[in-house]
Amino acid sequence: MSDLVQSNLEEGVAVVTINRPDALNALTPEMLGELRRLLEGFEKDMECRAVVLAGQPKAFSVGADIKGRVVEYDAGGSGDALGEIIRGLFSYMETMSKPVIAALAGYVLGGGFELALACDLRIADRTAKFGFPEAGVGSMPGAGGTQRLTRLAGLAAAMELMFSGDRISADEAYRLGLVNRVVADGDAAPAAIELGRKIAAKAPLSIDRIKRSVYVATSSDLTTGLEFEALCHAFLRGTHDREEGMRAFVEKRAPKFTGR
Ligand code: CAA
Repeated sequence: MSDLVQSNLEEGVAVVTINRPDALNALTPEMLGELRRLLEGFEKDMECRAVVLAGQPKAFSVGADIKGRVVEYDAGGSGDALGEIIRGLFSYMETMSKPVIAALAGYVLGGGFELALACDLRIADRTAKFGFPEAGVGSMPGAGGTQRLTRLAGLAAAMELMFSGDRISADEAYRLGLVNRVVADGDAAPAAIELGRKIAAKAPLSIDRIKRSVYVATSSDLTTGLEFEALCHAFLRGTHDREEGMRAFVEKRAPKFTGR
């Protein structure tokens, strides 16, 4: 293991930090492999109730490592190993039972923007700059960007951003519904951790079923979505944590959720 991705777990919140500042956190297969291993570990860890994904002050991430792509061209490679790893990782993040909150500062570009969009929640500070430069290097957002951006911002804004490659500010990203909140410079990670702690105090099975139901809402008709929600609700009715939560309310004490 290198130190391309660092992590720590405190009070139920894992903070996972991408750490390649010299290349503005450009994404490499090795880095993404480490990120995946760490996330899979936190998914299994009952102490972890939420994950914050952070970058460096100058860049959350500038996307795919372009230099690595050129090395691939020079070697005559035609596959898309990086793309497959990225797509697999981003889909995995959505299936995790634990919310992933992106803490965004500096450049959030290309695959870095797609990584942020694959998180469940996003908090940006005012240094954050968002954009999709892919069309300018003969590529396109290929790790979910066309799909996730369009779902959040709508057709017109998504097309303009991806056609033009223009960078937008944190305030503009907020206006388009791409970030949950904009905070002062340097405060994205602390604010994301605070939100993570709030989530960590809730019943984990409730959080998991809410997350699943919300994603179903983005990809199904209303009847299917309502049926799925009802199934999740029925599941929660049989859990220990639901009884604990309701008893704790009546007994005027804080609930002790165990994820059962
Ligand atoms: N890949 C590899 N290295 C990168 C990089 C990238 N995407 N972006 C920046 N770097 C490197 C630079 O080469 C430079 O390294 P050296 O010091 O060794 O030359 C270092 O990071 C600092 O970058 P700059 O000197 O360029 O910093 P700047 O502040 O002047 O500019 C920037 C910052 C505007 C982000 C500029 O670096 C830039 O335009 N980067 C490219 C961003 C981009 O096109 N991203 C999309 C990638 S494609 C993709 O992500 C597709 C996908 O679907 C996954």
